[in-house]
Order: sequence, then C-alpha cells, then structure tokens
Amino acid sequence: MGNRSGCGFCWLSLTVVVALAGFAGYRLFMGAHTHVGTDGRAEIALTAADRDIVLAEMRAILGAVQGMTTALTQDDLKLVAQQARSVGLSAMGQVPPSLMQALPLEFKTLGREMHTEFDQIALDAEQMGDREHALQQLGAMLGKCVACHATYRLTASKDGD
Ligand code: HEC
Repeated sequence: MGNRSGCGFCWLSLTVVVALAGFAGYRLFMGAHTHVGTDGRAEIALTAADRDIVLAEMRAILGAVQGMTTALTQDDLKLVAQQARSVGLSAMGQVPPSLMQALPLEFKTLGREMHTEFDQIALDAEQMGDREHALQQLGAMLGKCVACHATYRLTASKDGD
C-alpha cells in the first residue's frame, strides 16, 4: 500500500520536462542542418535580422584585416595587436538564440576558432613584435576565410527575407 504510487504522474512529468529541456539544449548546441545550394555550397537559412548580424560581423573582420595589413606595412606591431584584438573572442557580440540554433555546429566552431586566432595574433604581436610571424599568421587566417566561404552561403529563411 504505498502512498508513493500517487506520484507516478510527477515522475512522468519530470521525465518529460527533462527530456524536452535536453532536446532544446541539444538543438541549440548542434544548430541546423544545411542544404546544398545551386553553387554546391551548404546553405544556411537565416532570418533577415540574423543574417544582418553575421554579415556586419564579417565586414568588421575585413576592416580589421585591412587595418592589420596596413599596420604591417608600417611595421607597427602595436597597431597590429590592437586591430586583431578588436575582432578577438571578447569582441564577439551577443549571439541571439535564433542565430545560435540556425548556425550548424561546425560553422560556430570555425567562427570561434577564428576569433581565438585573432587573439593569438594580438598576443604574439605584442610579445614578439615579429612582423614576419604576424604576416604568416595573417596568411593562415585568410586561408580560413577562404575555406569557410567556399563551404557555406547564407540564404533567407521562410520567416524572414
Ligand atoms: C565560419 C565561416 C566563416 C569564416 C571563418 C569567415 N566567413 Fe566571411 N562569410 C561567411 C559566410 C557564410 C558569408 C556569406 C556568404 C554568402 O552568402 O555568399 C560571409 C560573408 C563575408 C563578407 C561579406 C559581408 C557582406 O556584407 O555581404 C565578408 C566581407 C567576409 N565574409 C569577410 C570575411 C573575412 C575577412 C574572414 C576571415 C578573416 C571571414 N569572412 C571568415 C562565413 C565565414
């Protein structure tokens, strides 16, 4: 005669809630699946607002790369560090949950690695002051821009254009 049996429903509800939370967390972490587009690249469907965030960040990165290149021609490693850090990890804006969910995990990983590398370039530029080294790092970095652009493109999702 257990009066514990009365809580079967509680356990069931709890299990369902935990499972749903786990699934939501997993979706957010893993991100969306992509389709292969007309040009062979994987298409990531984003709302207009989310796409604006990604593209604005890309333009900021290009600006930093330009600033770093000019600084390198002047052998100004302090300025190289400053420009690189402006797009480092701490400069990453808040990513809204909708964007977090829409971006594939691999894309997010590549993006994070890129920001981490900008921090590394900044650190090395400050500590070593070695122009050749910074130039090599920048070259390797540009290889990653090219690789990601060759792999992904952004498209409009159904609920935005
Ligand atoms: C994790 C993937 C990824 C990395 C790494 C990446 N990009 Fe992008 N970038 C994209 C995607 C996707 C687009 C949209 C391309 C499309 O839809 O055709 C884009 C677009 C851009 C644009 C166009 C912005 C606009 O307003 O239209 C610029 C500029 C850009 N990237 C610069 C860079 C530079 C510079 C780097 C490296 C320092 C870089 N990106 C690294 C994924 C990436």
